[in-house]
Amino acid sequence: MSFKSVAIDGPAGAGKSTLARKLAEKLGFLYVDTGAIYRTVALAVLRAGVDPSDGGGVVPLLKDLEIRMGYGQDGVQRMYLAGEDVSEAIREHHISGVASQVSAMPEVRAFLLGFQRRQAQEQDVVMDGRDIGTVVLPEADVKIFLTAAPEARARRRLLELKQRGQEADYDTVLHDIRERDHQDEHRPIAPLKRAADAALLDTTQLNLEQSLAGLLALVKEKIGP
Ligand code: DC
Repeated sequence: MSFKSVAIDGPAGAGKSTLARKLAEKLGFLYVDTGAIYRTVALAVLRAGVDPSDGGGVVPLLKDLEIRMGYGQDGVQRMYLAGEDVSEAIREHHISGVASQVSAMPEVRAFLLGFQRRQAQEQDVVMDGRDIGTVVLPEADVKIFLTAAPEARARRRLLELKQRGQEADYDTVLHDIRERDHQDEHRPIAPLKRAADAALLDTTQLNLEQSLAGLLALVKEKIGP
């Protein structure tokens, strides 16, 4: 039996995770947030006291890395590092840049590829990330590239951080978003880019409901109601 998959890629702050989670809920599919997996590797690197820009230090850590993904009773994805639930810790603002750094390393990507693919072999999934439609699930039934203007993404990210009680200011968040976009788009391996057969959804002028309706319409077009 083969399972259905929806691949959603796009830059940070386009609303991917919120929308992908809601879409999965509507479809009755499992939501897999692959950014959380890279964030968990980033946290492991920081905890080991290794410089995240140093591949020579990061790569040897991979073989002993004990990463697990699970789902809470509310259906929300949780990440475990050596048995510890790190789902909150990986959301700290400083983890974002480190995740982007380690995700540019080919060994890290190769290490996580099988892990991600297995999820889609075991159930229907909505998977979001940067290279899902291009590399992880090139045969996905539906591919969507979700984006928004950097300023709109910065405003949303700021709100999200404030809701979590984290201090941040607009200019810093916008600067970080631009820097991360650049880093993710220009890395040699699996850069952030729209797959040739991915539908584009720009959410700059859309609220959550409108974006979700847009996503559902694209999914229905491909795999039916
Ligand atoms: O979506 P996010 O902000 O949680 O992702 C954190 C970083 O992980 C992002 O800067 C790039 C990287 N990433 C990736 O390279 N490939 C993915 N499929 C998902 C995330």
